[in-house]
Amino acid sequence: MKLAVIGGDGIGPEVVSEALKVLDVVAPGAEKTDYDLGARRYHATGELLPGSVLDEIRGHDAILLGAIGDPSVPSGVLERGLLLNMRFALDHHINLRPSKLYPGVVGPLVGNKPIDIVVVREGTEGPYTGNGGAIRTGTPHEVATEVSLNTRFGVERVVRDGFARAQARGNHLTLLHKTNVLAYAGSLWKRTVDEVATEFPSVEVAYQHIDAAMIHLVTDPGRFDVIVTDNLFGDIVTDLAAAVSGGIGLAASANIDGTGTNPSMFEPVHGSAPDIAGQGKADPTAAILSVSLLLDNLGEHDAAARVEKAVAADLASRGTDAASTTEIGDRIAASL
Ligand code: IPM
Ligand code: MN
Repeated sequence: MKLAVIGGDGIGPEVVSEALKVLDVVAPGAEKTDYDLGARRYHATGELLPGSVLDEIRGHDAILLGAIGDPSVPSGVLERGLLLNMRFALDHHINLRPSKLYPGVVGPLVGNKPIDIVVVREGTEGPYTGNGGAIRTGTPHEVATEVSLNTRFGVERVVRDGFARAQARGNHLTLLHKTNVLAYAGSLWKRTVDEVATEFPSVEVAYQHIDAAMIHLVTDPGRFDVIVTDNLFGDIVTDLAAAVSGGIGLAASANIDGTGTNPSMFEPVHGSAPDIAGQGKADPTAAILSVSLLLDNLGEHDAAARVEKAVAADLASRGTDAASTTEIGDRIAASL
């Protein structure tokens, strides 16, 4: 297994090193190459993601990423130039974000209702494509557009992936959109779901407006199994799904090229948290669960399940004392 490792900014390198500790136990033969990308490199060289580095990264089986973003760089520069650049260049059209309330974890919802949701977020289209512009900038008559791009090809491949995942678990898929207002894209998503649904007769299909879904995620999360949605709605709903499932410190994600042409990228949903960087306070659980997603994606299903089980056992036995980043990593690695 050839792995490209990008610690990135802030707490990224700290949580990634715990994730690698765990990976080393279950996949001792993994060959790792570190890539120095992020704020440090940008300040030193002006580079974000040089083409030669991207080409090298393409030669790996998977990418493990910590976090991107630093207050010393204007907001968006690293995020777009590095993180989104990588997702687009490597055709990571499936942004997979599971949210599970693990036993022993007390979430913020009344009654600690069970949650076991997989969000399949589209990863390469929507308003993330940079398809917009501005005129008369800085004047009272400034106009800005940010066009949401949705192609039948792009929608269909992520919808089909969502159905396949639903069929492999709870047989329920919910499309989240805003078809009552976003008529054109909404119609494309809705028709695509209805058409692909005929290939998956066992899967029950539901539709919810994105705003109403925010309510249901808080009042009745059990009604969701697999959610499929566009890039921006998916960004938003996965933060809430993480928050109700024990917090962003536990949320893992996979950026997948469903065709298998390019290496997929595994990263915690959380950001670089510069306010706590270097203090050993960051929870490495999301990065460790990202390793489980990585192993699963590479066909190492047993190893993936072992890592998830070890994390679940650790979560179940965590008291109220805050453990340090390395304590949590050591504990989970040792239990394996
Ligand atoms: C995420 C992040 C990114 C996104 C940002 C940093 C570009 O919020 O991975 O959810 O919007 O996708
Ligand atoms: Mn986000």
